[in-house]
Amino acid sequence: MGDIMKKNNIVLCGFMGCGKTTVGKKISTLTGMPYVDMDAYIEEQEGKAISDIFKQNGELYFRKLETNACHTLSEKSGIIICLGGGALLNRENADALAKTGMIFLLDVTPEVVINRLKDDTTRPLLQSPHKAQVVKKLMEQRLPVYKENSNITVNGNQSPQHVAIKVITLFENSN
Ligand code: S3P
Repeated sequence: MGDIMKKNNIVLCGFMGCGKTTVGKKISTLTGMPYVDMDAYIEEQEGKAISDIFKQNGELYFRKLETNACHTLSEKSGIIICLGGGALLNRENADALAKTGMIFLLDVTPEVVINRLKDDTTRPLLQSPHKAQVVKKLMEQRLPVYKENSNITVNGNQSPQHVAIKVITLFENSN
């Protein structure tokens, strides 16, 4: 098989607050691989914050931008891609990313997410007075899809350093 089929990218997915960004940056520091945050990439392309895209253009529009970003970023090689928490729910996105990347699911408990995001105002899907219930329900619905569309599940409840090293080791052993 030629180089083109090698999975050179590390793709991190998982629920909002699972630590994708922190772990992604750690992996970048440890490996020297460039790090791309898909939400930041979309914000830069659109010139506005995710919450404003949701407000002004709607979720469906955001999901289209996300799919475009998955296709564009999957063309790159040797990078770390941190997805937004909804990106992997779409099979088309997962298929594009899986062509060039190993997709890691950072699996965390709802309690960890609820605690980390209790004061968050940037995630449009969690702006509810019943945040804990929303997190639990969404996680329950999403977990089977995340598992189906990713390659390897990693326990994300540990320290970012620990999770980063685990991902790097699995990535190196898989190539
Ligand atoms: C979303 C997660 C967010 C962001 C948007 C939608 C989701 O990213 O893409 O608010 O559907 O789970 P993070 O997972 O980085 O918070």
